[in-house]
Amino acid sequence: MVYHIPALLEESIDGLNLKPDGIYVDVTFGGGGHSMEILKRIKKGRLIAFDQDDDALANAPADKRFLFLNQNFRFLKNNLRFEGIKSVDGLIADLGVSFHQFDEPSRGFTFRQDAPLDMRMNKSGTITAVHLLNTMDESSLADLFYNYGELINSRRIAKEIVALRTIRPLTTVKDIIDAVSRLAPHRQEHKFYAKLFQGLRIAVNHEIDFLKEMLEQALDVLNPAGRLVIITYHSLEDRVVKNFMRTGNFDGAEKKDFYGNIETPFRIITRKGITPAEEELAINRRARSARLRVAEKI
Ligand SMILES: C[S@@+](CC[C@H](N)C(=O)[O-])C[C@H]1O[C@@H](n2cnc3c(N)ncnc32)[C@H](O)[C@@H]1O
Repeated sequence: MVYHIPALLEESIDGLNLKPDGIYVDVTFGGGGHSMEILKRIKKGRLIAFDQDDDALANAPADKRFLFLNQNFRFLKNNLRFEGIKSVDGLIADLGVSFHQFDEPSRGFTFRQDAPLDMRMNKSGTITAVHLLNTMDESSLADLFYNYGELINSRRIAKEIVALRTIRPLTTVKDIIDAVSRLAPHRQEHKFYAKLFQGLRIAVNHEIDFLKEMLEQALDVLNPAGRLVIITYHSLEDRVVKNFMRTGNFDGAEKKDFYGNIETPFRIITRKGITPAEEELAINRRARSARLRVAEKI
C-alpha cells in the first residue's frame, strides 16, 4: 500500500525558491514526498522534518542533511531552538492526513470502512473521536459540526447523536452513521459524511488552533526572503492561511501604517493560490481539493 502521493509537488517545491545551502523545514513529513524533493534539490543545506504520527518515521531517509522529529508542529520554534537553529530559509506544510492514515481502517478517519472512531494523528494523544462524541454537550457538538464540518443541519446532527448515546455509547464508524444517516441528503450522502468526519477530525486534532500557532512561529523563524509554502485541503484552513499571509493575522483585518500603507509581513507570491492541473488529477484524484499558497517574508 502506498503511504502517500504528494500533492502539487513541483509547484510547492518551486515555491520554496531553494538555496543549495539553505535550512528548510517540512512540518508535515508523512510519506516524505515533499522532503525527498527538497533533499534532491539542495546540496549542503539542511532539512528538519516534523510529523506527529510516529508511523511516518519509517519513511525517514538516512541522510546526514536530514533530521526527523516526531513532534507536533505547534512546537516548531522550541524544537528548532533545541536543535540550535534560530532561523530558516523556508517552511512547507502539506496539511491534513496522509493516505496511509486515511486508508488504515484502525485509525477511524474514513466513513468508508467500519472501525473504532479514533481519528488521532498522534496515536499517543488522549482525546479520540469516541471521547468527543460521548462527552461533549449537545450545543458544543452542534458548534463542532457547524464550524469544522460546515454542516448547516448541525443542530439536528447533534440532537441525533445525543439521542443515540443515551441508549448506548457511540464507538464505531457504523455507530455515528446509524445515528445521523436519516439526515444525509439524498444522493449527497458521501459529501455529507465526508464533512461530518472532517469536523470530527479537525476537533480531535485541534487542527485549526495548531495551524495558527505554527504559522505565527513560522513568521518568527523565517529569514527575510524566506518562503512560507502551505497546501490546504478545505476552505477553513485556506482562509486561515490566506488571511495570515495577507495581513499577518487570522481575521484578515488590515493594519495600516502612519501613511496609510497596508502593513504586512509577507509579499504574496501566489495571489489566488494554485490548484492541481488536470494531469495531476488524472493520476491523483485525492489532490482535487488541494490549494497551494506561497508567501515570502519581507
Ligand atoms: C498530507 S500528509 C503530508 C504528506 C507529505 N507531504 C508527503 O508528501 O508524503 C500530512 C501529514 O502531516 C502530519 N500532521 C498533521 N498535522 C500535524 C501537526 N500539527 N504536527 C505534526 N504533524 C502533523 C500528519 O500526521 C500527516 O502525516
